[in-house]
Amino acid sequence: MTDEHDTSGDHDTIDALLDEQRTFPPSEAFKRNALVADTSLYDEAARDYQGFWARQAAELVDWQDDWHTICEWELPYSKWFVGGRLNVSYNCLDRHVLAGNGDRVAFHWEGEPGDSRTITYAALLAEVQLFANALKSLGVAKGDRVNIYLPMVPEAAVAMLACARIGAAHSVVFGGFSAQSLTDRINDAEAKVLITADGGYRRGEVFPLKTAADEAIAGCPTIEHVVVVRRGGNEVQMVPGRDHWYHDLVEAADPVCPAEPMDSEQLLFLLYTSGTTGKPKGIMHTTGGYLTQVAFTHKYVFDLHADTDVYWCTADVGWITGHSYIVYGPLANGATQVMYEGVPNYPANDRFWSIIEKYGVTKFYTAPTAIRTFMKWGAQEPAKHDLSSLQLLGSVGEPINPEAWMWYQEHIGGGTCPIVDTWWQTETGGIMISPLPGCTTTKPGSATFPLPGIGAEVVDDDAQLVTHGGGYLTLTQPWPGMLRGIWGDPERYHDTYWSRFEGRYFAGDGCKLDEQGYLWLLGRVDDVMNVSGHRISTAEVESALVSHPSVAEAAVVGANDATTGQAIIAYVTLRGGLEVAVDELRGHVAHEIGAIAKPKAIYFTPDLPKTRSGKIMRRLLRDVAEGRNLGDTTTLADASVVNELQRRAVEAPTED
Ligand code: WT7
Repeated sequence: MTDEHDTSGDHDTIDALLDEQRTFPPSEAFKRNALVADTSLYDEAARDYQGFWARQAAELVDWQDDWHTICEWELPYSKWFVGGRLNVSYNCLDRHVLAGNGDRVAFHWEGEPGDSRTITYAALLAEVQLFANALKSLGVAKGDRVNIYLPMVPEAAVAMLACARIGAAHSVVFGGFSAQSLTDRINDAEAKVLITADGGYRRGEVFPLKTAADEAIAGCPTIEHVVVVRRGGNEVQMVPGRDHWYHDLVEAADPVCPAEPMDSEQLLFLLYTSGTTGKPKGIMHTTGGYLTQVAFTHKYVFDLHADTDVYWCTADVGWITGHSYIVYGPLANGATQVMYEGVPNYPANDRFWSIIEKYGVTKFYTAPTAIRTFMKWGAQEPAKHDLSSLQLLGSVGEPINPEAWMWYQEHIGGGTCPIVDTWWQTETGGIMISPLPGCTTTKPGSATFPLPGIGAEVVDDDAQLVTHGGGYLTLTQPWPGMLRGIWGDPERYHDTYWSRFEGRYFAGDGCKLDEQGYLWLLGRVDDVMNVSGHRISTAEVESALVSHPSVAEAAVVGANDATTGQAIIAYVTLRGGLEVAVDELRGHVAHEIGAIAKPKAIYFTPDLPKTRSGKIMRRLLRDVAEGRNLGDTTTLADASVVNELQRRAVEAPTED
């Protein structure tokens, strides 16, 4: 141990360095129409969190049979609404049509080339029934697994809901994943049927999916049938007896498929996510608790007024955000949404803003990496469009740096929209930490407080409670949407989440608690550096760099260093047309955080290496920084970025 000392009397495990002072209380105008404008939900949940969730389950979800027990908790396994029976697809579709809202638009779907489809709740219900019967005709039954590998087309939602209707569990694999990744996921889940498409549109071109699917299932003995949605119009090979066109199946199917009630703990889906080992984890989610949490959080975090709102979440259905906040949460609440197929810069950098204007989007949910890209493209892009329909903005996926938060608020939100920075994970199923927009005073960069019914605490290395300062985020009580385990690997479930701190769920994120109890998520703890015995979050250094007016985006990694343990290496993308000296930026970071946070080296780069889902690949950057041969680069969106970085790393002089 080096010079670790504790001046505050708290158990600081991560030096809390940035000190963001700005606060944004909800406006009177927003509060007037808000579903929640006081602390009553928090008070209710604090008295009895299980009773609180039971009230939400009863109010927001229709049950065929009532549950007898709210929650059975035998660490690390929970069951919610035990004995209850419901059908998720009934809750997302039938009940809205029965209530007279069949003509309400469920999806304004916008294809990348500019084609569009308007799908009402009645039409969606009809399509889901047809496809559910089509799946049955292929031998899919309750308890089976179905893999879905589709672009962002309405059939993706139809396929998920059709599975839910008949009690088959879906496993959606993001369309950007390779054939090998698909093989691994299908085999782990032992799926019977794969639903894919000929191809989809991306950046003006058709990318073939069926070819990758064919390659994948060559190694998948459990797959009996393949369903192919026609979207790209590209040529595909259909294997007779095995492969079927979606439209042929639906045309031949019976239009009526009653929604069969499912046990509250019936497996709804598997979703694979990366862990610290190379093997992805099949995260298990079930029916009643999951639906309750996603419906509750979608309604209250986005302050949903289902009859007037137009909600748009830019995620892909291949990720948990697409599952919970495009399919299950919004549809359970009867929301009208935009679903967009393509990239934000086709045909030009203002595509998102033109979509918001076209459909009058009121609630918009996207990721910090996208926001920083928009900053890079410049404020003139959103300024070309009337964005005055927007009432609320959301952020998810990584810590949002205060500069991006402020830019989002000013240039997208017109200075008036509250921002909800929502922390959660594939494992949590739904949002856990977030403002409630009509009652929480926000601070740029803080996800603020646990939602009502959620218990979150920060602890230090010794599992001691941190009341002020940095540490590890843990969850202290079960929640309805929590993962029910890792498919086929109970030991890994226990080890990953429940072994680090006794009695607590370990989220893997660093977190800082300020004087007023606000939570500041600092990124994964594997992204936390240790420099001269000081722990510094890569997110904090990045945030400092991005607060410099010339910087658009920054990625920081800790590289091994003989003297200091780790050294801070920064990769920086400048805003168009701007320049800045390395020394000035180092000085800027020192000024924002302190001299210990000064990057040892800064490399300028036109782009950062990212996965296709937009996450910066720090492991690769660490490899580059440490001069290692690069490991697996198959998940990179653009492999040329790394070659360029390596070239620059060799050329650029190292500081000091
Ligand atoms: C990890 C979970 C949640 C859906 C998308 C990602 C990071 C997520 C935030 C946020 C800071 C965040 C965490 C978390 N993360 N949201 N608002 N602020 N960090 O799901 O792929 O399961 O990743 O994303 O590190 O652990 P995921």
